Amino acid sequence: MDKFVISGGRPLSGTIEVSGAKNAALPAMAASLLSSGPVSLSGVPKLRDVETMKVLLRTLGVAAEGDGAMTLDASKPSGGDAPYDLVRTMRASILVLGPLLGRLGKARVSLPGGCAIGTRPIDIHLKGMEALGADVGIREGYVEASAGRLKGARIALDFPSVTATENIMMAAALAEGTTVITNAAREPEISDLASCLNAIGGEVAGAGSGTITVEGRKSLKGGTHKLVPDRLEAGSWLLLSAMTGGKLAVAGARREHLESLEASLGRAGVAVEEKGGNLAVSVTQKLRAADIVTQPYPGFPTDMQAQWMALMCLAEGTTVVRETIFENRFQHVPELIRMGADISVKGTTAVVRGTGKLEGAQVMVSDLRAGIALVLAALAAEGKSEIRRIYHLDRGYERLEHKLSSVGADIKRVPQDA
Ligand code: UD1
Repeated sequence: MDKFVISGGRPLSGTIEVSGAKNAALPAMAASLLSSGPVSLSGVPKLRDVETMKVLLRTLGVAAEGDGAMTLDASKPSGGDAPYDLVRTMRASILVLGPLLGRLGKARVSLPGGCAIGTRPIDIHLKGMEALGADVGIREGYVEASAGRLKGARIALDFPSVTATENIMMAAALAEGTTVITNAAREPEISDLASCLNAIGGEVAGAGSGTITVEGRKSLKGGTHKLVPDRLEAGSWLLLSAMTGGKLAVAGARREHLESLEASLGRAGVAVEEKGGNLAVSVTQKLRAADIVTQPYPGFPTDMQAQWMALMCLAEGTTVVRETIFENRFQHVPELIRMGADISVKGTTAVVRGTGKLEGAQVMVSDLRAGIALVLAALAAEGKSEIRRIYHLDRGYERLEHKLSSVGADIKRVPQDA
């Protein structure tokens, strides 16, 4: 196991490139299971979660080649299980359920088990599969689902779950007839999956709105698709820039995917602007406290909540942060407090009293987004920090220490026990 050692307080400047979105790569990779012909993806980030999905797909009989440009050939899927040992390391493994069921009429996928940020049930996924005509049961820790050919249906989601929307879209792509998903998730990664499905022969309309229509096809022929840039990585770099003097240029991001973050930054006194095709922030005044409430897209993303809190530690005044998506997503708080933050938590609300500064400390990562928040805090803090359990960060941030070193950060990866 490795840790990061960061000497904070250095001015950062230069261009930092955003990778393809993890949360678009995983469903697009899973979608290859639907296709009789090869699916070529570009802009695939090199991440542990992507590797896990590759191993999972190989277990299911998909030939997977390449990294950034990846080809997935599911011409002969094996119909095996998605085993516990893989699924427990990555909850998004549940994304193979819909494609397996659509393609083979059966699926056996381990239940993911516990998660650091909340209970995270999968009832909405299962109800969706049932609505498409599958028999679904839980046996010995596995979801077992079977069907003849799935049948298109009208499916109203209880909550706009991101991966449940994706699972249903993918299953419906090979169903007989039309599926209409209402109260669908509207995240850009959903639109990206729709583009991917359309590129490989599917027919999906309405993605990005709350109502998605999928015309089922007999088979999908394969094709090529380029993944969207990672808005959560881009957002993290914008906040990092705001915390370290505002001299970073964020390349390859889509501004339209960052509107709620941009609006929140505006309330905090930070303007986002475009410079030479890149995004940058302009910090001309003292950071102000700005409350946020996490919401499904286009609201403020829960995946930016921890980073926002790190930023607000440096602001003047008191910020109220309300987390409405996950019930236990404040595990970065005790760690930020170790770095000198003044934060109290009651239920799903945190109150940050800005102290205007942070100081280096030894801290521990509990999950991916908590991890990046601690990296931002350490880069902005005075003094040295040691960040342990960085394997969480390797799940979702490509070449993290290289990207940060290239803009002037003093960050080193060293063995944790050295
Ligand atoms: C996806 C993202 C994750 C992000 C989250 C919310 C991927 C691979 N991951 O996760 O980074 O934090 O969206 O934006 O895209 N829920 C149920 N029953 C279900 C499904 C979800 O109750 O069947 C609840 C969850 O427990 C949670 C809420 O719905 O409280 C939102 O979860 P969901 O949108 O499903 O998140 P994921 O798709 O798992």
